[in-house]
Amino acid sequence: MKPIYITRRETFNAAHKLYKADWSEQKNEEIFGKCANKNWHGHNFTLWVTVKGTPHADTGFVMNLKTLSKLVKDLVIEALDHKNLNLDVPILNDIMASTENVAIVIWNILEEPVKEAGGELAKIKLEETENNYVEYYGGKQPF
Ligand code: NI
Repeated sequence: MKPIYITRRETFNAAHKLYKADWSEQKNEEIFGKCANKNWHGHNFTLWVTVKGTPHADTGFVMNLKTLSKLVKDLVIEALDHKNLNLDVPILNDIMASTENVAIVIWNILEEPVKEAGGELAKIKLEETENNYVEYYGGKQPF
């Protein structure tokens, strides 16, 4: 049977700054634009967590979306919501807090717990603004 994909959507808001200390202020502004603002800024992030599998014979579910929602809320939203991504989130301390990297970190947080709950993580989609979003499908990363 071919896999089918289920998705849970959650939202959080968080502050960040994209800034490299060894670059000049001018270069930081050139590369990171408004995200380099030294006094921080926030985004209302929307997160879509997609799990793939085949419907279970008894339930018709790939994975109970209530279970998935609880995992995302407990492990991700709790860690990131109303936080400063650069300062308050240990796993991001040494990583540029770009939407790309946050999406990878979210994947890393959820991959095992989703597996333990009987699912297979397929995609993390993270929207920073209505015009900008990133998608991550897993795989080896340096962090
Ligand atoms: Ni930003």
